[in-house]
Amino acid sequence: MAIGSSLSRVFPLGSRVNDLGRLEIGGCDTIELAREFGTPAYVVAEDDLRSRARAYLQAAAETGQEDFGVVFASKAFPCTAVLSLFAEEGLWCDVASEGELHLALAAGFAPERIVVHGNAKSLAELAMALRAGVGLIVIDNFDEIDRLRDLLAGEPRGAEPQQVLLRITPDVKGETHEKISTGQADSKFGFSMIDVPEAVRRVAEVHGLALRGFHAHIGSQLLDLDPFRREVAEFGKLAARIPGLDVWDLGGGLGVRYVAGRESPPEIEEYVATLVDAVRGSGSPRRLLIEPGRSLTANGCVTLYTVESVKRNVSTWVAVDGGMSDNLRPMLYGARYEAHVADRLGGSVSCVLAGKHCESGDVIVAEAHLDDPRAGDVIVTPATGAYCYAMGNNYNGVLRAPVVFCKDGDARLVVRRDSLEDLTARDVR
Ligand code: LLP
Repeated sequence: MAIGSSLSRVFPLGSRVNDLGRLEIGGCDTIELAREFGTPAYVVAEDDLRSRARAYLQAAAETGQEDFGVVFASKAFPCTAVLSLFAEEGLWCDVASEGELHLALAAGFAPERIVVHGNAKSLAELAMALRAGVGLIVIDNFDEIDRLRDLLAGEPRGAEPQQVLLRITPDVKGETHEKISTGQADSKFGFSMIDVPEAVRRVAEVHGLALRGFHAHIGSQLLDLDPFRREVAEFGKLAARIPGLDVWDLGGGLGVRYVAGRESPPEIEEYVATLVDAVRGSGSPRRLLIEPGRSLTANGCVTLYTVESVKRNVSTWVAVDGGMSDNLRPMLYGARYEAHVADRLGGSVSCVLAGKHCESGDVIVAEAHLDDPRAGDVIVTPATGAYCYAMGNNYNGVLRAPVVFCKDGDARLVVRRDSLEDLTARDVR
């Protein structure tokens, strides 16, 4: 790829090929980053994340909907530095465990801007959420109503009731991988539409809870807006049957580009405008919330690897120093990524970019095209900012990768690499 040539939108905003022919992220030379921080490493362009947060807020403001919260789904990139950045930008935060709640509080989110999710919340998690004074708990099932009732009976609270939403299963299915489709009737998440009136009645009986509205999340990596319109229509039907519940949380799900020319997701502006149009046609909620995860972080980050070996048999196997421990998505969902040599982007050698783990399925990119890959090359896979760090693991005792933030040519380590000592740190002797 020619020096200075513009990169596809799969890469973080502001990425370029510098005069040495090397990829730059946030003004930092990726070959230098690999040298300084080692590989594998997640490299985040700070300005990219900020600009996507601003795009959401700007789009929300332009709709004229006065009370509109953009809630970052922290599961996409549950790293304190990422959460702090979004807190600074004025987003809310969605958490789905006590661990994520801990991270959100540590990152500086105001408790009233935290939304607590989960289809199997433990007593401890609910107690922690109540104690923290979170803005909303999204109730998933009847047992959870009972647990909240018991907890509230045991723990005296101030005058303010805990605000809650009911998670509904609107029976809307979007086009995505079945493992990340959640809106269909036969789902482990939320109340069936038929059970909603009973749930509303049961919550109303619990002293200390104030039911404000409904939540749904129909699925993730959705590239078509139509399922979102159908979701909103279901909210409208509920609002007509059960008046007075005027907080609508529509969940997340907007898809992103992983491979240039392959996906063409709607722009953030179009997505937000479409939701609000649909909402206006279905009801008039006082507060609207959306919970983007992937579309805030995926394209703001790349992963750097180093080639350990190149082997030729039936295929050309380019084996790198990471794999399913830093990016489980190809294994779990057959997810596709691009790969490039960081100082020779583009290329035509067909090869398999393989990970270092002891499984044949540990392949990061099955059909990569690299420029004459050799041991020692730095490889970059873009669009790894969502659900990669999040699902990072120590399989084969591999040390989890660090996170490096880059901005205007400065790089700072925000999460260090695991150490060997970390692997034994939890042992009880
Ligand atoms: N809200 C709720 C309640 C969710 O469960 C999720 C994602 C989101 C919001 C954010 O959705 P997003 O905007 O990121 O699509 N590990 C999978 C993705 C699982 C998504 C789970 N829920 C993957 O790597 O594709």
